[in-house]
Amino acid sequence: MMLQITQEQVNTRYRAYHTKINEALANCFPKASPATLYGPARYILEGKGKRIRPFLSLLAAEAVGSTADNALSVALGIEVLHNFTLMHDDIMDQADLRHGRPTVHKQWDVNSAILSGDMMIAYAYELALKAGCGRHKELIHIFNDANITVCEGQALDMELETRKNVSIADYLDMISKKTGRLISAALEAGGVAGNGTPEQIAALVTFGEKIGRAFQIQDDYLDIMAEDGKSGKIAGGDIINAKKTFLLLRSLELATGKDRQLLQSIVDNNGATPDQVSVVREVYERCGVLEETRQRINSDTEAALSALDTLPGEGREYLKGFACILMKRDF
Ligand code: IPE
Ligand code: IPE
Ligand code: MG
Ligand code: MG
Ligand code: MG
Repeated sequence: MMLQITQEQVNTRYRAYHTKINEALANCFPKASPATLYGPARYILEGKGKRIRPFLSLLAAEAVGSTADNALSVALGIEVLHNFTLMHDDIMDQADLRHGRPTVHKQWDVNSAILSGDMMIAYAYELALKAGCGRHKELIHIFNDANITVCEGQALDMELETRKNVSIADYLDMISKKTGRLISAALEAGGVAGNGTPEQIAALVTFGEKIGRAFQIQDDYLDIMAEDGKSGKIAGGDIINAKKTFLLLRSLELATGKDRQLLQSIVDNNGATPDQVSVVREVYERCGVLEETRQRINSDTEAALSALDTLPGEGREYLKGFACILMKRDF
């Protein structure tokens, strides 16, 4: 698909808005005490988050003909909500590293991570209420729906860890909930903050659902395939936890002989040992699942772009351009 702008233009805007978002996030949670409550919230927001969701909110407002500034508080609310989900996700996934640093429950403890995350949810809603558009009831509804849907997705993610007969359709349903909905909500809330029409907002949601799915498939790919240290997470965490990713489910279909036996034993044992990670990586390389996964990420992203065609603002082209950058990301 031909875009009306260059990737460099998209990158320049991403850098500028990234700085603006980080400056604003640095002013959230200024209170010193209780240190075990506000410290973790500041710590996770200081991390090297990509700020994808708030960037999408700002572009969504521009795409419906408004300005990024009109969506800033909503964008920050979405990012705070996202970081709460990360904090609790790391407890659930027993993950020791995020953004190349110890996770909150390792740096502090599990109780501090639970409580700080809870506080961040409330704070996110306060940010949503600061929107200047007057459509606060809609915004709260979007935040609620996203929050509940992420919880559903995370519950399914955990249930699938020990289930033996998981289909690719089950996986796609789970990721659309745990990841797709917050990404589509970022766009939806940005569109509302920019006073978009119901049709414009529906287009943004469709786009978000599709890129959200591609984004999680990419996250699963990078969990095991990212170059050393680039993901900022422990490599292979998903296979260690027997997460039912597209890579695992599809390679169970593609692999043969000893390779297939190894994958099946990981499913049967509800997990792998850290020294099995590099062997699984080789199996993935051998069975052709990596190529299929990359193709899926690309086709899901391509399919998302046309949803935006009716939007009036130039933000539309930036959204498309950013989706194309995301599908090639390596971090
Ligand atoms: C990680 O999201 C969690 C997923 C839904 C895959 P991001 O990759 O956007 O995390 P940060 O904010 O950049 O750290
Ligand atoms: C993200 O899934 C789900 C969330 C709702 C946070 P992951 O568990 O794969 O996210 P990462 O890889 O830890 O960031
Ligand atoms: Mg995780
Ligand atoms: Mg998880
Ligand atoms: Mg992951």
